[in-house]
Amino acid sequence: MSTKLLEGERALITGCAGGIGRGIAKALKAEGAIVLGSDITAPPAEDGIDFLKADLGQRDGWKGLLDAAVKKLGTISLFVHAASPRRLEADTPLSVSEETWDAMTDINLRTGFFLGREVGRHMRDNKVKGRMILVTSQHRETPRNLPHYSASKAGMTMVMKELARVLAPSGIRVNAIAPGAIPGGGFVAGNLGALIEQIPLGRAGTPDDIAQVAVAILSERFGRYVVGTTIEVDGGIGLMSWIPSKA
Ligand SMILES: NC(=O)c1ccc[n+]([C@@H]2O[C@H](COP(=O)([O-])OP(=O)(O)OC[C@H]3O[C@@H](n4cnc5c(N)ncnc54)[C@H](O)[C@@H]3O)[C@@H](O)[C@H]2O)c1
Repeated sequence: MSTKLLEGERALITGCAGGIGRGIAKALKAEGAIVLGSDITAPPAEDGIDFLKADLGQRDGWKGLLDAAVKKLGTISLFVHAASPRRLEADTPLSVSEETWDAMTDINLRTGFFLGREVGRHMRDNKVKGRMILVTSQHRETPRNLPHYSASKAGMTMVMKELARVLAPSGIRVNAIAPGAIPGGGFVAGNLGALIEQIPLGRAGTPDDIAQVAVAILSERFGRYVVGTTIEVDGGIGLMSWIPSKA
């Protein structure tokens, strides 16, 4: 009998070309899942992840992705939403434009809800005891001078809870992971040394730090009674008072 945690599962992962989504895609594959990754750009071929291109910034981008994913995978049993636009540069509450607000909230929050809901409906209708993770952030609770980002992550937390409550009676578990500082993809620390000084564990996180927790929550061996919660995977930075990067 296989000792892999996710053998036979069929996973759809958004943001699979980014740091965290890519790490999760690789970890799920290593644990035996059949993985279909999606992004606006392709992940490196060396990952060996089956890939579907989708622009989730388009109004109906999530619908085309779901249709194509069901055609490819048959039944989806695992879903992870890790896509997010790279609009974290220079916007503060007093400067952020409506266009940047919409770009961020469309992918994080709107797609997180509608794609998550329809994946949940698909799981329920196919009698699959599926599992989902929405990737949120420590900044769902603490301001970062990036209101479009923080508000989208706070909203995703409630989306996760609403979906978790309504889908749990069908045996479908929905949860969130809130990463700390994970360089490697879209996140580039301006001053990594100063950032690390803020982290009680004394190092920045890696995509695999997040991915191994995702594997655990998605697995029935470790996660079977975990529903509607946010797991902080942040080396303890959430214990520190956050100093916004811009005044
Ligand atoms: N890296 C961190 O420190 C950190 C911390 C907290 C939360 N997070 C969250 O984790 C998730 C992944 O972060 P990451 O660091 O891997 O970011 P990343 O930028 O490396 O990955 C995000 C991916 O989303 C994709 N994407 C962007 N626009 C898209 C679109 N229109 N359609 C489809 N895909 C699109 C990008 O191409 C990219 O591959 C995000 O939700 C982010 O907010 C990251």
